[in-house]
Amino acid sequence: MTLTELRDSLHNCQRCKLAGLGRTQVVFGTGDPQATIMFVGEAPGYYEDRQGEPFVGAAGKLLTELVQSIGLSRSEIYIANVIKCRPPNNRDPETDEVDTCKPFLLQQIELIRPKLVCSLGNWATQTLLEKKVAITKVRGQAFHVRDFVVFPMLHPAAALHQGRLQEPLREDFRKLKIYLDQVSAAESIPTAPVASPPAQDTQMDLFGT
Ligand code: URA
Repeated sequence: MTLTELRDSLHNCQRCKLAGLGRTQVVFGTGDPQATIMFVGEAPGYYEDRQGEPFVGAAGKLLTELVQSIGLSRSEIYIANVIKCRPPNNRDPETDEVDTCKPFLLQQIELIRPKLVCSLGNWATQTLLEKKVAITKVRGQAFHVRDFVVFPMLHPAAALHQGRLQEPLREDFRKLKIYLDQVSAAESIPTAPVASPPAQDTQMDLFGT
């Protein structure tokens, strides 16, 4: 299956109750289908639901600026969400919705084969690490999960709501840049030295050593 075929297979998806709870359209994802770096958020909000594209509202503007601050552009990365449809009033996704939609995110990752998946916020991070970990404990570090590497970061929307998180979010992007520079110096993403997700809330350094 190609990424386009996967997108087409989700067009007007009716697999979970969000289809009948006011969503306008499925927000599949956007960017380079062969991107090296992928960003994963939680779920579409109002503007994303309207435009059919992830991260186009205020949080998206901040994300774009931060991506550019480390020398990348939106067209070189891929952006998606765990949940492809907007939950009513932007409520948290429910377990049955995640169970239905997560396999499509994993398929997206498999097809794009990014070297690094940056999970934005607690929610996407816990979904991808498959562990109840606090974002504050795992942010800015790389974790080997399944056959990809997850790099948790604070969510731009959190930084917009709580000004004190702006600087830590910028710090996460600086750490991402350092990680990417080290990886490109080594010419490939290291798989073995990268940390596994912590069993609990254990703090690890960038390479999990
Ligand atoms: N927040 C998200 O998690 N995803 C979006 O697409 C927009 C805001």
